[in-house]
Amino acid sequence: MTPLHDVIINKNTKKNPIWIMRQAGRYLPEFREIRKLNPNFINLCLNDDLSSEITLQPLKRFDLDAAIIFSDILMLPYGLNQKVEFRKNFGPVLGAVNIEEMLKLDEIDFIEKVYPVYKLIKKVSSHKLTQKKNTIGFVGAPWTLLVYIINQQSPKKGLKKDFFKDNYLINRILLIIEKFLKIHIKNQIENGANVIQIFDSWAGLLEEKYLPNYIYTPTLNLVDYVKSLNVPVICFPREIKNYKEYCEIVKPDAVNIDYNIDPKKILKDIKIPVQGGLDPKILLTDKETLKKEATKYLDIFKDHPYIFNLGHGVLPETNPNMVEYLVKTVKDY
Ligand code: CP3
Repeated sequence: MTPLHDVIINKNTKKNPIWIMRQAGRYLPEFREIRKLNPNFINLCLNDDLSSEITLQPLKRFDLDAAIIFSDILMLPYGLNQKVEFRKNFGPVLGAVNIEEMLKLDEIDFIEKVYPVYKLIKKVSSHKLTQKKNTIGFVGAPWTLLVYIINQQSPKKGLKKDFFKDNYLINRILLIIEKFLKIHIKNQIENGANVIQIFDSWAGLLEEKYLPNYIYTPTLNLVDYVKSLNVPVICFPREIKNYKEYCEIVKPDAVNIDYNIDPKKILKDIKIPVQGGLDPKILLTDKETLKKEATKYLDIFKDHPYIFNLGHGVLPETNPNMVEYLVKTVKDY
């Protein structure tokens, strides 16, 4: 039994496996070296020799229990022929939506565009470094993808004023997203992903009355789909106000929590296995603080199935030695 399956399926509370969101990324000098030579981020994701190497970089350094594939949630709009670009010090910028084009797209066109992602998964899942470990595939949740597709950039300063104006367009796009997410998930699993994580990074943006339409119903459809393929699914509805209601309705196999929610409240409210929570900024402090804060999560969830992770991705300015110390702290607990 692989470490994450042992917690999620067997509900084992004796061990706390650990992996880290954005474990393959800019805080690693060996990643920055490859990145420097590959200024186009999408092309880097589509180079399966390099993307598989990057995926394995953190496993070569640290005693992690899982590899998360080096890819991006925005490979989906890219596969739907929307223009996707990553600007330095700004983030993703997407082109305008052409709904007629999107409606014409079929499964074969999509797979052809993102095919290297599946080749990367095949390479990583058959590599000796991932044997007896997990290879995590992932997608963005329908709502978060809708945000990027319509807003055309991160909604850090809020959504466009007319975001919800064209209801017909939004509902059309949601259905297209759902259809191709299923295709993307199925191909990731067929090539060796044995856990799927669904990232809903902008779940916290929505008012309660919109949750059923934009989050609960489309995410439940995806969760049911992953379950039908016999692979556990972890959901991360970042900054959602009501994790309890989310878990009761969407029913993921495990839930990743953000760093603003009180872990004691989660322990009280939530029955399913839990992952994550530690504030990534703690990795920018010192070893003593890191140990204290990591141990807090381990203590709270000591009798609950728990996978150690952060409450969001590791920050680029993190010292890799602190990540090493965190892994050691969790393993020695
Ligand atoms: O976790 C991992 O190690 C796997 C790889 C991974 C990336 N993106 C690589 C990446 C994963 C799981 C993602 C998910 C992702 N992508 C999310 C959901 C999680 C979250 O962070 O909230 C979102 C919202 C995106 C979209 C995205 N990609 C943004 C907003 C940005 C720019 C912001 C940033 O962090 O630079 C990216 C770029 C990106 N995706 C990088 C990496 C390593 C940085 C690229 C670089 O080198 O410049």
